[in-house]
Amino acid sequence: MQQVVHVDLGQRSYDVQIGPGLIDQAGDWIAPLLTRPRVAVLTDENVAELHLDALRQGLAKAGVEMVSLALPAGEGTKRWPQFTRAVEWLLEQKIERNDIVVAFGGGVIGDLAGFAAAVLRRGVRFVQIPTSLLAQVDSSVGGKTGINAPAGKNLIGAFHQPSLVLADTAVLGTLTARDFLAGYGEVVKYGLLEDADFFDWLEHQGPVLAAGDMIARVEAVTRSVQMKADIVSRDETEQGERALLNLGHTFCHALEAATDYSDRLLHGEGVAIGCALAFELSSRLGLCSQEDPSRVRAHLKAMGMKTDLADIPGELPNAQALVDLMGQDKKVVDGQLRFILARGIGEAFVTADVPPDAVVQVLEDALATA
Ligand code: GLY
Repeated sequence: MQQVVHVDLGQRSYDVQIGPGLIDQAGDWIAPLLTRPRVAVLTDENVAELHLDALRQGLAKAGVEMVSLALPAGEGTKRWPQFTRAVEWLLEQKIERNDIVVAFGGGVIGDLAGFAAAVLRRGVRFVQIPTSLLAQVDSSVGGKTGINAPAGKNLIGAFHQPSLVLADTAVLGTLTARDFLAGYGEVVKYGLLEDADFFDWLEHQGPVLAAGDMIARVEAVTRSVQMKADIVSRDETEQGERALLNLGHTFCHALEAATDYSDRLLHGEGVAIGCALAFELSSRLGLCSQEDPSRVRAHLKAMGMKTDLADIPGELPNAQALVDLMGQDKKVVDGQLRFILARGIGEAFVTADVPPDAVVQVLEDALATA
């Protein structure tokens, strides 16, 4: 059942191994990368409780020792204080230039540990062992690392590619339904952005996949990672096409800021709502048919996901305030917001040519039904 996706980036190429049981085999995969049999693992307290013993045993079977630091779980960790703590701990552990740091957790840990590896001794190698669906299909692949700033998400960071990614699909079984579905928002995104057949497949297989079918899970993760790997290998540092991966994210980042990055809205939930809004905007601009946003929303709803602004608990600011929050987005170029819009399902494109009034109107209408 195991699959592999190669991320082709010249000397910085690496493999993403996908399948159940990879944590148990972690030592076999990581040992060939080591010059001495010891790794430093950064994780969070929830993942540590559930899976750290399994990782320790998986490494020990290949004679690899580990030291570990468990940071608090949650987005609040992705800031300077815990980042500083992680880097200083790695130095205390005498992690050398040829050693490997292991990022063992979801997107927060992957981004923070990857950034720590990028700056430690001017750069050490790292291995991603993503434990959330979101991290397996998106954040562990492609080398974007970093932390949040008070001014916005992911504004401090570096491109630093991992040396290996081990996506153990068995650990997805320990996620809460909410976390699983939030990650599924990013899976749907891949179908919407450039693979209508994949979206079609998800419409049929989504329910069994959510219910735990391992073959469907491995296939969904593999197809998502393959799409991401192809895009990243053509545009590693987001000079163009990689921005497509941000479908739904301009709306999402505004909604996350409006909800204080709290658990009122998880990132993947915001991506799903953002994708629905991006298709609504595309349809109103006459770019895609009116059926497309309805189809997107119908699938999200059928999966029991947050789909509309009304699904976000609590008050939201008005439409203009949400548009103002988009101004901090990294996708702003020369002061102009860029949107990912679509000519149909699987046909996304990047544009700065969006009338601000149309964005305000879409949000006003979405808020009116909230
Ligand atoms: N998550 C978007 C990217 O990696 O480019």
